[in-house]
Amino acid sequence: MNIDGCAALVVGGAGGLGEATVRRLCATGARVVVADLADDKGKALEAELGVRYVRTDATDEDSVRAAVEEAVRAGDLRIAVDCHGGPASGGRVVGKDGFPLGLEGFRTTVDVYLTGVFNVLRLAAAAIARTAPFGEDGGRGVVVTTSSIAAYEGQIGQLSYAAAKGGVTAMTLVAARDLSPLGIRVVSVAPGTVLTPAYGKAGDQLEAYWGPQVPHPRRMGRPEEYAALVQHLCENDYLNGEVVRLDGALRFPPK
Ligand SMILES: NC(=O)c1ccc[n+]([C@@H]2O[C@H](COP(=O)([O-])OP(=O)(O)OC[C@H]3O[C@@H](n4cnc5c(N)ncnc54)[C@H](O)[C@@H]3O)[C@@H](O)[C@H]2O)c1
Repeated sequence: MNIDGCAALVVGGAGGLGEATVRRLCATGARVVVADLADDKGKALEAELGVRYVRTDATDEDSVRAAVEEAVRAGDLRIAVDCHGGPASGGRVVGKDGFPLGLEGFRTTVDVYLTGVFNVLRLAAAAIARTAPFGEDGGRGVVVTTSSIAAYEGQIGQLSYAAAKGGVTAMTLVAARDLSPLGIRVVSVAPGTVLTPAYGKAGDQLEAYWGPQVPHPRRMGRPEEYAALVQHLCENDYLNGEVVRLDGALRFPPK
């Protein structure tokens, strides 16, 4: 698929992985709509890159619907990338104090990290389905979601997040199968540890902790590496129903 001239929706586009993706898609000629809750960052991207920013809560139906419609107004919507993130509740199933992990924290984490992704996937796909097919394969577009290697090797205390990301991973093939008659591909990226500007000064400590644990390259990932993969996932029409690990061969230890 040729990205140049397509409209692209990036949910979480004001975040670390999102901003890199927005920049990359813009540089490739896409008309990008940034959907996020971070108004300051979103508006700064709007001013700098000429993208459109729409305040969006991924977990809310009307909110995502409005962002999708904005992307439809920008051109042929063929690309939706979801890389939003939010609070995740941590803790052992039964804490050292003997109390079970809270139900509310689990629900909130699944709401943000799984239900939100499903919400974006379904509403974006319905809009992509309204575009005319292109090329010899009759494709219409692609939805890229963001999982995590925690879906496979969740660490101690990561149960809620790992469960949500496991859901994102599991829905990838099913959604690809469901959407195949419409010519819409669904792929996901499972990053390992990516050093984003959001970490600020704590980034140095994270790099010092995680970097040596990554087999090769012996460092945390870069947002630009995620964005480069997203671009390839958009362009390569034969990638479908797959979750691609982006982790330098890192496998999370138990803790
Ligand atoms: N950075 C990593 O090391 C890493 C590793 C594995 C997976 N991931 C996943 O990648 C995604 C992005 O991570 P990041 O490091 O860029 O995080 P980030 O915190 O830098 O960015 C997340 C963005 O999502 C936005 N957001 C929060 N709640 C939202 C909501 N309800 N609706 C819309 N937007 C919302 C935030 O405002 C923020 O701009 C997350 O799903 C995260 O779990 C990141």
